[in-house]
Amino acid sequence: MFSRIAGRYDLLNTAMTAGRHHAWRRAAARAAAGSLTGPALDVATGTGDFAVELARLPRVTRAVGLDFSREMLAAARRKAERKQLQERIDYLAGDAHHLPFADHRFTCAVAGFGVRNFIDAPKAIGEMVRVVRPGGRVGLLEIVRLDGKGPASRLLPLCFRYVTPRLGAALAREREAYTYLPESVQGFMTANRLAELMGAAGLRNVTVKKMALGSVAFLMGEKAPSS
Ligand SMILES: C[S@@+](CC[C@H](N)C(=O)[O-])C[C@H]1O[C@@H](n2cnc3c(N)ncnc32)[C@H](O)[C@@H]1O
Repeated sequence: MFSRIAGRYDLLNTAMTAGRHHAWRRAAARAAAGSLTGPALDVATGTGDFAVELARLPRVTRAVGLDFSREMLAAARRKAERKQLQERIDYLAGDAHHLPFADHRFTCAVAGFGVRNFIDAPKAIGEMVRVVRPGGRVGLLEIVRLDGKGPASRLLPLCFRYVTPRLGAALAREREAYTYLPESVQGFMTANRLAELMGAAGLRNVTVKKMALGSVAFLMGEKAPSS
């Protein structure tokens, strides 16, 4: 499914978020990399936007983007070349549940709109923690299930359910993938539950920043310095 939408994925992201998705990743990349110096990992990189934001940060010595869709990776590589960042980013095929890296390799690891799609989110988060060095950070940017009872909690799921598949059909000729999206959000966790999972994976000081009326969250935690 992800391979089928690779060519139109960026356009749909821009249409669905009114262009805000770039600013969300930029802020998230800055927060995750912080003042740490070293390589940074983007898990489920898709068309590579999070890796691009990481690679632009001066203290990130190299960005690595991993995804299991070769079509997504091909789009990511083309984008890195267009932006003249190909020397700063490596894209490689792999599974988020079995990251092909040694322990403690990265200063930070992020995933943008990826964890909702993983078969086993706790395992994949555990893998991100494993490959980050002690004192490093793990950040998850994700569309989350709303937990309140206010108008946004009632209206946004309806908007998602009825508007998103139509946008997918109109802009990408892909109603199925963009029907899956709202369904996957409804079946996903709240931001608080995701924060608990990050804590259970060994991250400390987990913070939650919500955007887009609470429907998108950036969660970040630190790996203990001695682990
Ligand atoms: C919604 S896209 C997110 C892309 C990008 N991170 C972004 O910020 O827009 C989800 C991506 O996760 C990838 N993906 C899903 N499950 C994966 C897994 N187990 N291992 C690696 N990549 C995976 C898909 O191929 C797809 O490119």
